[in-house]
Amino acid sequence: MAMAMRVESVEEAKQAAILPGAQEQRRTFPAGMLKLFLGLMLFGVVMGLSAFGVFLARHAGEVAAAAPALFRPCLGAAAAEPEPEEGLERWTRPPARAQHAMTDEELLWLASYAPRARAGSGYPFRRVPKVAFMFLTHGPLPLAPLWERFFRGNEGRYSIYVHTMPLYRANFTADSVFYRRQIPSQDVQWGQMTMCDAERRLLANALLDISNEWFVLVSESCIPLFDFNTTYGYFQNSSHSFVMSIDDPGRDGRGRYNLNMAPEVELEQWRKGWQWFEADRDLAVAIVEDTVYYPKFKQFCRPGCYADEHYIQTMLKIEAPHKLANRTATWVDWSRGGPNSAHPATFGRGDITEEFLKGIRGGETCLYNGQNTTLCYLFARKFAPSALEPLLELAPTVLGFG
Ligand SMILES: *[C@@H]1O[C@H](CO)[C@@H](O)[C@H](O)[C@H]1NC(C)=O
Ligand SMILES: *[C@@H]1O[C@H](CO)[C@@H](O)[C@H](O)[C@H]1NC(C)=O
Ligand SMILES: *[C@@H]1O[C@H](CO)[C@@H](O)[C@H](O)[C@H]1NC(C)=O
Ligand SMILES: *[C@@H]1O[C@H](CO)[C@@H](O)[C@H](O)[C@H]1NC(C)=O
Ligand SMILES: *[C@@H]1O[C@H](CO)[C@@H](O)[C@H](O)[C@H]1NC(C)=O
Repeated sequence: MAMAMRVESVEEAKQAAILPGAQEQRRTFPAGMLKLFLGLMLFGVVMGLSAFGVFLARHAGEVAAAAPALFRPCLGAAAAEPEPEEGLERWTRPPARAQHAMTDEELLWLASYAPRARAGSGYPFRRVPKVAFMFLTHGPLPLAPLWERFFRGNEGRYSIYVHTMPLYRANFTADSVFYRRQIPSQDVQWGQMTMCDAERRLLANALLDISNEWFVLVSESCIPLFDFNTTYGYFQNSSHSFVMSIDDPGRDGRGRYNLNMAPEVELEQWRKGWQWFEADRDLAVAIVEDTVYYPKFKQFCRPGCYADEHYIQTMLKIEAPHKLANRTATWVDWSRGGPNSAHPATFGRGDITEEFLKGIRGGETCLYNGQNTTLCYLFARKFAPSALEPLLELAPTVLGFG
């Protein structure tokens, strides 16, 4: 029991990061702990004899609290027991928390680790695949109560990551699905490469949990359109990832291509698509490990070229075209505000009706695994905070959850 506690605590201190070298540290640990423990016993005897001991005993709680986290759970442990050998679990356990002290460079490197013996018999441990919901936000999540209802009851099949402005501190209570899911974040400029950096940061954090299989990018103005099981099954059964990646011959498509991107990216390979994607684990790894296309986009996809509409869309078209559905699963309305509007419509309280939501849920036809379907969108944007109340009201009858 005590042994298990100690392992847990070491893991916390190391943030459960799957780092080489961690094992080495673990090996040398018990000897050091033994010395500490014996030293502490001696200290205790001296203390007991001294009159001062009474005073100190009263403050024992504080002394223990001031001791380093590594050391505390060992008080009273049977020091002579050998440490059990590590099993596979050490490599498959998700990080204990979303926060960590890694730089982007370290994080992307770590996240690009990928098991290569997966195809045949699958994973040699019980792995329930999860959907990683990656919230790319300024900070607050005004529609969080709707998402809470969407996730409720589906623990173990999803995980959540929230990217915010760097100084924003989310403040969810411990009973929220968003509690402590904020990842270390950096500034983002809309349309620039820093946007793709944030997407890669989200993907990399989510990849550290080996059970995450599908990775969905959503924003604070997105809502789920179906219940969790439908959403999960849609990703699980699909033979494609929902990345919109199309060849647009116009000014806002091929017109944004820069000849300096060749030979890594040729004009015929240049793709465009909305930012909000879903990718499976292989595609997620391909995105975080990319060192071929990334520098080209960073250097040559400059204002006028919106990196978040081209980078992932183009690099995946080159690396894994057969895996792309070439459409997004996130509905958006560009019809308001004119054909050249840079911003899609935002829907508020007055827009939310049963007819409106039903229209989004089944108003189009698209391909799913080569078959026509009207289930094209799992998410929709953009919704203002004022839409929350009517959405919560209609969710049980129209959206199928809550
Ligand atoms: C954070 O939580 C405290 C205590 O519940 C509350 O008073 C405060 O308004 C919250 N801040 C934000 C930004 O939600
Ligand atoms: C969703 O799927 C899970 C796992 O297959 C199942 O246990 C649960 O009952 C389902 N929930 C609903 C509401 O269908
Ligand atoms: C996914 O496939 C399973 C098994 O074939 C089926 O029961 C389920 O309804 C499918 N889900 C979706 C959303 O297509
Ligand atoms: C998506 O487009 C690529 C070419 O860009 C093509 O290879 C792929 O088959 C398309 N996917 C589907 C589902 O049609
Ligand atoms: C899907 O529908 C379109 C038009 O509605 C039709 O032309 C096409 O053949 C259909 N495709 C399949 C695979 O059924």
